[in-house]
Amino acid sequence: MAIIIIVGAQWGDEGKGKIVDFLTRKADLVARYQGGHNAGHTVVINDEKYVLHLIPSGILHKNTVCIIGNGVVVEPSALIKEIEELKERGAKVSNNLLLSKNAHLIMPYHVALDNASEKSLGKKNIGTTGRGIGPAYMDKMSRKGIRVADLLSPEILMEKLNSNLKHVNFLMKNLYKSPVFNAKKIFAEYMEYGRKLKKHIADTDIIINDAISKGQNILLEGAQGTLLDIDHGTYPYVTSSNSTAGGACTGLGIGPSKITSVLGVVKAYTTRVGSGPFPTEIIGPIGEKLRAKGGEFGATTGRPRRCGWLDIVILKHAVRINGLSGLAITKLDILDGIDKIQICTAYKYRGKTYTDFPKEPAAFEKCVPVYEKIDGWKESTVGIKEFKKLPKNAQAYIRKMESLVGVKAYIVSTGKKRDELILLKEPF
Ligand code: GDP
Ligand code: IMO
Ligand code: MG
Repeated sequence: MAIIIIVGAQWGDEGKGKIVDFLTRKADLVARYQGGHNAGHTVVINDEKYVLHLIPSGILHKNTVCIIGNGVVVEPSALIKEIEELKERGAKVSNNLLLSKNAHLIMPYHVALDNASEKSLGKKNIGTTGRGIGPAYMDKMSRKGIRVADLLSPEILMEKLNSNLKHVNFLMKNLYKSPVFNAKKIFAEYMEYGRKLKKHIADTDIIINDAISKGQNILLEGAQGTLLDIDHGTYPYVTSSNSTAGGACTGLGIGPSKITSVLGVVKAYTTRVGSGPFPTEIIGPIGEKLRAKGGEFGATTGRPRRCGWLDIVILKHAVRINGLSGLAITKLDILDGIDKIQICTAYKYRGKTYTDFPKEPAAFEKCVPVYEKIDGWKESTVGIKEFKKLPKNAQAYIRKMESLVGVKAYIVSTGKKRDELILLKEPF
């Protein structure tokens, strides 16, 4: 039995979807614990590509139960669309997908407020995915949120809508000079979503704890990444939830004593989408080459991802904050053919050297990275499944990463397809 948290160690898009899908071969249950349809998790099986936004990346294994936990914010029409699209492609999505009654709903006004707030921030905007994530979590924290269970209680849904819209419509009209929302219209729409989702709605905390009691193998899937965490990320350029490992316990209702290990997914280089500081960003041909070769365009919004060298300072932060047991290193193949690879081991700011993630925003924004140069390799690593078959310099790069970060690699991924990886240590 093992209960493993899979967490992004950088700014998201590390390849969590691929790793979760691969590990699901031994999992009885896979549960998403936070975020919403801002996430885009890619799974490639043979030549079929699937992008999952709300549904756990274990869904393509038909004997595994998938749970959307209480910590997730759910836009019901997006979930229904995702379910229907998966079914059309032959996936099993029925009683194997369960949705927590306590998960909060993203309402149409959350999307409008997200976009209006971004617009009003101008150049200082966060570069959100525009999915209403922040405002939905704001309502949750201010205890005004509408939850999945409310879809099954018409009176409560109507009462909450009427009450929330007083405030929302005041803002829309007076602050954002935008159209207001109609409670009856939203009510009718959401009642219909409730009817469609009813068969999936469950007491997921009980189901998951029963599975733990039975000794089942469980994966807990994070969205986004450590540096996008609301508490531990590059605030305010973050998402609005705890994407780090702690979020798995609160986002599902599991006690910390039940967790057996935490696997950090990390790209062999770094990417970021949206605004905010990024010390190792490469502006120029190598950055563009990584973007083109790595297909670094957002799986949700299609925006180009900013690309940069591997940053050990943020990875050490990820090891600490998540208590990482090991790494799943992805996209090694994208570094094939680069003559000299750089690794950032520290930052310099105003004469001071930082080897730990600086909490002062100015230091992180304006620091100069200190790099070590490593010899690259010319050979292709695509699809290699044994460590000893990797070019010597690629082996050295992995070993260097492990020693700088202080934890071992369990997995090295060498391509986008499900089986294109090296399994160094079985996490289950
Ligand atoms: P996630 O959000 O963490 O699940 O990551 P995304 O799916 O947003 O982005 C990762 C991208 O890299 C996807 O297009 C994956 O298909 C792809 N990918 C994952 N692992 C590898 C790998 O080892 N090599 C290559 N070339 N692509 C990979
Ligand atoms: P996955 O799970 C990368 C980023 C957005 C923006 C910030 C806030 O695929 O790794 P939000 O819409 O959440 O309020 O946006 O967070 N962001 C992601 N970046 N991968 C993601 O998810 C992301 N989800 C949100 O670009 O900078
Ligand atoms: Mg993604």
